[in-house]
Amino acid sequence: MEQLPDPLPDNPLHILSQWLDEARASNLYPNPDAMALATVDATGQPANRIVLCKQLLAEPGYAVFYTNYTSAKGDAIAANARVAAVFHWDRLNRQARLEGIAVPSPAAESDAYFASRDRDSQVGAWASAQSQPIEQRSQLLRALQAMQQRFGDRDSIARPPHWGGYRVWLTAAELWTRGDARLHDRGRWERELTAGDDGGFTASPWQHQRLQP
Ligand SMILES: Cc1cc2nc3c(=O)[nH]c(=O)nc-3n(C[C@H](O)[C@H](O)[C@H](O)COP(=O)(O)O)c2cc1C
Repeated sequence: MEQLPDPLPDNPLHILSQWLDEARASNLYPNPDAMALATVDATGQPANRIVLCKQLLAEPGYAVFYTNYTSAKGDAIAANARVAAVFHWDRLNRQARLEGIAVPSPAAESDAYFASRDRDSQVGAWASAQSQPIEQRSQLLRALQAMQQRFGDRDSIARPPHWGGYRVWLTAAELWTRGDARLHDRGRWERELTAGDDGGFTASPWQHQRLQP
């Protein structure tokens, strides 16, 4: 059974990066970068849903996902930027838990990612008011057709202002591997973030502990 390095390294995100690469290379998962993202709304109600982690930067330590800023999760993050996320690679016997502060990605970064998406996804991002109710599914299809007409055969489609990335600046990470006799291995890392002027953060060094299973 796999164990975490002993002693634990200073930065957990190099291991997490490697785990993501290995999950992708394993071909065991249609969405190896899927993570459950938990938010807490203004009333204190938690909710979670799967999003795709499109980038993980071990330095300075944030994960990026893309979504609709006016979705339920976008509203929750506007009220409370603290989020948590979990990856589970069942067949690799690995789990990774994250906690952090979500801030919208710089517009230029969201523009670049939006431009890299296929045309259907781009038009879909314009057509869907994510998390809003609709009377009938056919309404959504009509909205999609209207957008397809609007964009015609235009070469490039600009990013809708309501769509973009969030950087989750990480304050805690826990890596878990399955062990024999339920003696799983767990390492937990924590650090402090201090907000900078540029929407980013400066971080203290990571502190770590091994936890009992
Ligand atoms: C495998 C998978 C990947 C998904 N990836 C994303 C994603 O990257 N971004 C996103 O906004 N929603 C994604 N979704 C849809 C979300 O789970 C969710 O339905 C949607 O974002 C609306 O959530 P909300 O109403 O809580 O804001 C994904 C769903 C699945 C099952």
